[in-house]
Amino acid sequence: MHKKLFIKTYGCQMNVYDSARMTDVLAPLGYALVSRPEGADMVVLNTCHIREKAVEKVYSELGRLRSLKRAREKDGSSMVLAVAGCVAQAEGEEVRRRAPWVDVVFGPQAYHRLPDMIFEVERRAVVDTEFHIEAKFDSLPEESAPRGPTAFLTIQEGCDKFCTFCVVPYTRGLEYSRPVVDVLEEARRLVEAGTRELTLLGQNVNAYHGEGRNGQTRSLADLIYELAEVDGLQRLRYTTSHPCDMSDDLISAHGDVDVLMPYLHLPVQSGSDRVLGDMNRRHTSADYLQLVDQIRTARPDIALSSDFIVGFPGETDTDFKSTLDLVCQVEYASAYSFRYSPRPGTPAAGLEDQVADDVKSERLAELQDLIGRQARAFNLATVGRTLDVLLERQGRYEGQLVGRSPYMQAVHVEAAPSYNGQITTVRIDAALPNSLSGSLTGPADVGDRSAYAA
Ligand code: SAH
Ligand code: SF4
Ligand code: F3S
Repeated sequence: MHKKLFIKTYGCQMNVYDSARMTDVLAPLGYALVSRPEGADMVVLNTCHIREKAVEKVYSELGRLRSLKRAREKDGSSMVLAVAGCVAQAEGEEVRRRAPWVDVVFGPQAYHRLPDMIFEVERRAVVDTEFHIEAKFDSLPEESAPRGPTAFLTIQEGCDKFCTFCVVPYTRGLEYSRPVVDVLEEARRLVEAGTRELTLLGQNVNAYHGEGRNGQTRSLADLIYELAEVDGLQRLRYTTSHPCDMSDDLISAHGDVDVLMPYLHLPVQSGSDRVLGDMNRRHTSADYLQLVDQIRTARPDIALSSDFIVGFPGETDTDFKSTLDLVCQVEYASAYSFRYSPRPGTPAAGLEDQVADDVKSERLAELQDLIGRQARAFNLATVGRTLDVLLERQGRYEGQLVGRSPYMQAVHVEAAPSYNGQITTVRIDAALPNSLSGSLTGPADVGDRSAYAA
């Protein structure tokens, strides 16, 4: 009989990839995914530590799970409760101190050890926050199930940049790049199983420097040229990039490689050079704007996106105004913005001059309003155009499918279920607040990939 596994994923795309890999690791033990924690034999919370709110969500979920676990024990069955990911890495034993009903705590570099941990947990609680990053990638099994039309593929993990606000170098460890052959093999398997679009992942994906076939070091651009040759791979994206690692060869690839989609998430965080300096971002706003010019020269229609932090310690109204100015100059297709959240153990958390919460909130609202207007303008400019859309899932209504344009816009369209998993042409009829709607203009690019037809 199958054992039921429930995984709840918080945080970034890498956690989504890791959760899928955990199911691969547990499949040989008879675990199969279920969509609810009720009745599950094992529950994993794959957590995020990036902002305080993300962490608090985990502890309140653990409170709810406590009663589920008790109810199962009353029935004579059991539930293994595990906390994985970045909260597990950052807090280790502290997780069990705050929630003693948790059985297993393991960081992002330890989940290949899940079978051992499950065995061990029969005797005692397990905490594994070691950094076994290379061993992890070497021992992960092949995918236990197809991933669908779009899939993530981690090629680089960890970060050496130490931005003063950020926990990632502490939770994911220092930079590690997977060898080129391993990435190519995983990509081929995913495409063979029906994936059409791959998103290469890394905390600092463009710092990728993996070992090539002859032992020489290969860049992200080199890897992209190799992946573009994988038969059946139709779209390629990568995230997240740091401006300092946006090398000339990578920028050229945006002009040269057809499968590389015209979308780039390039976080700048702030438009003020003083704040950028205090954040240890290692570039100025002028450097960033110059980079944007260079990228747009290589690929004029590229859609740009970013992350912003408002209310970093010491941020003045003038600093914030510089951020608004930068946004006006770049004209983003979309962007994410956050209130600064002091993280224990990071240098910025100890700075005096913390910005008051109401000031952070006001600035966030103003920035989000500006970004929202730019996103709407970007979306409106695609109305009337015909775009290639990769339809990837059922929409909210019967007969509706949802996909993505090359520019990462969500597109809703009325289409038969057989179109799911296919790239087709869609005329964009309207721009809604966060998505587009359109009509099919071409047949689905039907191949032998009907596995995803609903
Ligand atoms: N590796 C990525 C970012 C990972 S975290 C990069 O270098 O850009 C994703 C985003 O969360 C960051 O870009 C930043 O905008 C935000 N973030 C990180 N730490 C934060 C903090 N302490 N408070 C608020 N936002 C934060
Ligand atoms: Fe965090 Fe990104 Fe800075 Fe690394 S480069 S420390 S992941 S914000
Ligand atoms: Fe969060 Fe860890 Fe990703 S802190 S953003 S889950 S790297």
